[in-house]
Amino acid sequence: MSMRLGIVGCGAIGNIHAAAAKRQGVDLVGAWDIHEGRAALLTSTHGGRAFGSLDDLLAMKEIDAVAIAVPNNLHAPLAIQSLRAGKHVLLEKPMAMSTAECRTIKAEAIKARRVLELGFVCRGAPAARAVRHFIDAGRFGRISHIKCASYRRRGVPGLGGWFTTKSISGGGAVIDLGVHLIDLSLFLAGNASPTHASAQVFSGLGCRMRDYVYTAMWAGPPRLDGTCDVEDGATALIRCDGGLTIEMNVFWAANLPEGQLSDGLTILGDKAGATFQIFGRSAKIATEEEGRLVDIVPHFTCEDPDREMWDAQYTQFRRAVEDGVAPHADADAGIRVQATVEAIYASAATGREVPVSLS
Ligand SMILES: NC(=O)c1ccc[n+]([C@@H]2O[C@H](COP(=O)([O-])OP(=O)(O)OC[C@H]3O[C@@H](n4cnc5c(N)ncnc54)[C@H](O)[C@@H]3O)[C@@H](O)[C@H]2O)c1
Repeated sequence: MSMRLGIVGCGAIGNIHAAAAKRQGVDLVGAWDIHEGRAALLTSTHGGRAFGSLDDLLAMKEIDAVAIAVPNNLHAPLAIQSLRAGKHVLLEKPMAMSTAECRTIKAEAIKARRVLELGFVCRGAPAARAVRHFIDAGRFGRISHIKCASYRRRGVPGLGGWFTTKSISGGGAVIDLGVHLIDLSLFLAGNASPTHASAQVFSGLGCRMRDYVYTAMWAGPPRLDGTCDVEDGATALIRCDGGLTIEMNVFWAANLPEGQLSDGLTILGDKAGATFQIFGRSAKIATEEEGRLVDIVPHFTCEDPDREMWDAQYTQFRRAVEDGVAPHADADAGIRVQATVEAIYASAATGREVPVSLS
């Protein structure tokens, strides 16, 4: 019998979860959202039924697992409630609002003996998977540096809404986009352990509530009477055990001609290096073979990178629930990223390098 899923939170990402789950043969039993109409819309599009309350959804024995896609401040309470109700959980990023909350969620998952998978979906991007194959085969040697970036010209999500309200989101571009970059970098470097962060955060361009010029807005339209008290950009240097450094530049909004700066990841190892866009259809690897410099372009079929990374996440979640294999990204990955984010914000606030507290 295939995994039976409930969706908790039926906004933009809840709908993407529903579609990805269905493509992977998951049985979508139903959905719940605080706004009833959204659960009704999701289920009328993807199937299952709209529940009137989270308690009703969690009481269903016919639901094995839930995907939680609500604003960040609700991740911890709803994940804990779901685990206590005996459900496996696929929890959107960031894991929670603090490392303390993350550890509580992890402890609840262990107590409940349920799968807890983190929504670090970029791990499944075809280009990242192609590069990882070479890294896992030892072809990169020792990785010493990763440069990761996401530059948007105008990409503030839901200006004035929950994404830009610190008490609900926990932060801005770092919490929203940076967590994917940090996770993917640490993961590809063999689950590297971050030790210190030195960072600067910026805000101004994205929080110009009345004259923010844009062409499209995720989670829009803007709420001009809303709040924007988070950073719209950050630059960080993350040091890791063993000498690895990660340079991260992440901007929701920047006055930048499109395509001028490299997005994605550049990975430098002593035997090979690579560069790729997370949503790209190719990756380039530079190495040496028999005394010559060689470029490798790994072949992989990829029609829709975005869709394929979501499919990879759901394939693994389903296998974790049904067959007991390790989840795509586990609680420790979530804690590691959260601790790094906390060090980044503390460094930006103090103007000093700050240790990453993993214990
Ligand atoms: N994996 C990714 O690439 C990715 C991309 C964007 C967002 N996200 C994450 O997904 C989550 C949701 O983001 P989104 O873009 O879908 O936001 P959204 O605002 O479109 O959707 C959030 C939904 O949660 C619902 N909600 C609000 N309060 C609730 C409550 N108390 N109980 C139940 N539902 C409630 C809202 O009604 C809304 O439908 C966030 O954690 C975000 O960080 C992940």
